[in-house]
Amino acid sequence: GALPERHPLRAAGTMDAPLLQALTGRTPDRRPVWFMRQAGRSLPEYRSLRQGTAMLDACLDPAMAAEITLQPVRRHDVDAAIFFSDIVVPMRVAGVDVEIVPGRGPVLEHPVRTAADVAALPELADAALDPIREAVARTVAELGATPLIGFAGAPFTVAAYMVEGGPSRDHLLPRTMMHADPAAWRALAEWAARTSGAFLRAQVEAGASAVQLFDSWAGSLSLTDYRAHVLEHSTAALGAVADLAVPRVHFGTGTGELLAAMRDAGADAVGVDYRLPLEEANRRLGGRTVLQGNIDPALLAAPWPVLTEHVREVLRGGDRAPGHVVNLGHGVPPGTDPQVLTDLVGFVHDQPVERAPR
Ligand code: CP3
Repeated sequence: GALPERHPLRAAGTMDAPLLQALTGRTPDRRPVWFMRQAGRSLPEYRSLRQGTAMLDACLDPAMAAEITLQPVRRHDVDAAIFFSDIVVPMRVAGVDVEIVPGRGPVLEHPVRTAADVAALPELADAALDPIREAVARTVAELGATPLIGFAGAPFTVAAYMVEGGPSRDHLLPRTMMHADPAAWRALAEWAARTSGAFLRAQVEAGASAVQLFDSWAGSLSLTDYRAHVLEHSTAALGAVADLAVPRVHFGTGTGELLAAMRDAGADAVGVDYRLPLEEANRRLGGRTVLQGNIDPALLAAPWPVLTEHVREVLRGGDRAPGHVVNLGHGVPPGTDPQVLTDLVGFVHDQPVERAPR
C-alpha cells in the first residue's frame, strides 16, 4: 500500500486497537470512546499551556500541538487522540487572512463572495503543511498503540466561513451563492476540497490512523442541495486519502436527512448528532454502516444517573449497527467538568459487549 513504511497502522497494536476494530467492522473487547473537542478548554492543563498563545499560533507550534493532543488521552484513557488543530488551519497556511476570535470562531478579513474573490485565493503549497507533519509525528511517537484521528473541515463548512466571513446561524450567503453563481461556488468548493484533502493527507502520511471530515453546518442544507452542490466536493476531500486505506468518518450536525448521502461521499462510518437516535440512524443507513455518536453534550452536566441512563440507551442503539464508536453528538462544551468525561470513559469501558444479532 501507499502508507509509509513505519506507519502505526502497519503495527498490530494500532490496527487491533478498539477504534480500528470498530471502524473496520470487527467486534472489539471494549467499546471505543473518544470525544469531539476533547482537547481544549474543558481541561485546566490546556488553558495553562495556551496562556499567551493565539489559537492558530498554538496549532502551528508542533511541540504545543502534540502536547495538547496528548493531554486528554493521558487524563481520560480515551481510545483515540484527535489531532489538535482547526478546520481553518489549511486556509491559514495557504495564506488566507483568517483569525480565530475567542468566544466567536473563525473570522476572515476579506470574505470570499465573488468569482474574482475565489480566483484570487492562494494555492496551498505542500511545504506549508510541514508544521502539521511534525506535530503529528511527535504525537504518534508518544501515543503507543492508541490511534490518532486526523481531521479536516468539509468543503461546505469551510466555504460557509469563507463566504460569510465568520460564524453564522443559517449560512444564507453560501447557500445563495450555490444557486446565484454556481460556477463561483464550484470553484470555491473545489479549492476547499483540495486544501482540506491535502491537510488530511499530510496527517495520515505523518501517522494518523483514521480521519474525520467535519461538515458541522451541512444540516442547514436540503438533501437536494447537498446532492447537487456539495456531495461531490466532500467526496473529493475524502478521496484525497482513499489510496492510504485509513477508515474515514463523516460527521455533521442536524444531518438526519443527509446520512446516506454522507456515507455515499466515501465514508466508512457516519457521525450522528444528538438529535437522532442511533437506532433510527442505523435504519436510515440500511443497517450496513458503522456509526459514531451520539451522547447529548447537554447531559454531561446532568446528574450522573440521568447521564448514564442516556448513555445506556445510546449503547443499545449503537449495538444494532455493524459497529459503534461512542462519542458525543457534538463537541465537549467548554464548561464541562473533566472528571465527568473520565468517569464516562470508565463507564463505557465497563459495559459488557454483547452485539445484537443483526
Ligand atoms: O479536541 C478536538 O476536537 C481538537 C481539535 C479541534 C478544534 N477545532 C480545536 C479548537 C477540532 C477537531 C476542531 C474542528 C472545528 N473547528 C470545527 C468542526 C467541529 C465542530 O465543533 O463542529 C469547527 C466548526 C471549527 C471552527 C471553530 N474553531 C470554532 C467554531 C471555534 C470556537 C470558537 C470559540 O472560541 O468558541 C474554534 C476555535 C477552537 N478550535 C478552539 C479549539 C480548542 C477554542 C479556541 C481556544 O481554546 O481559544
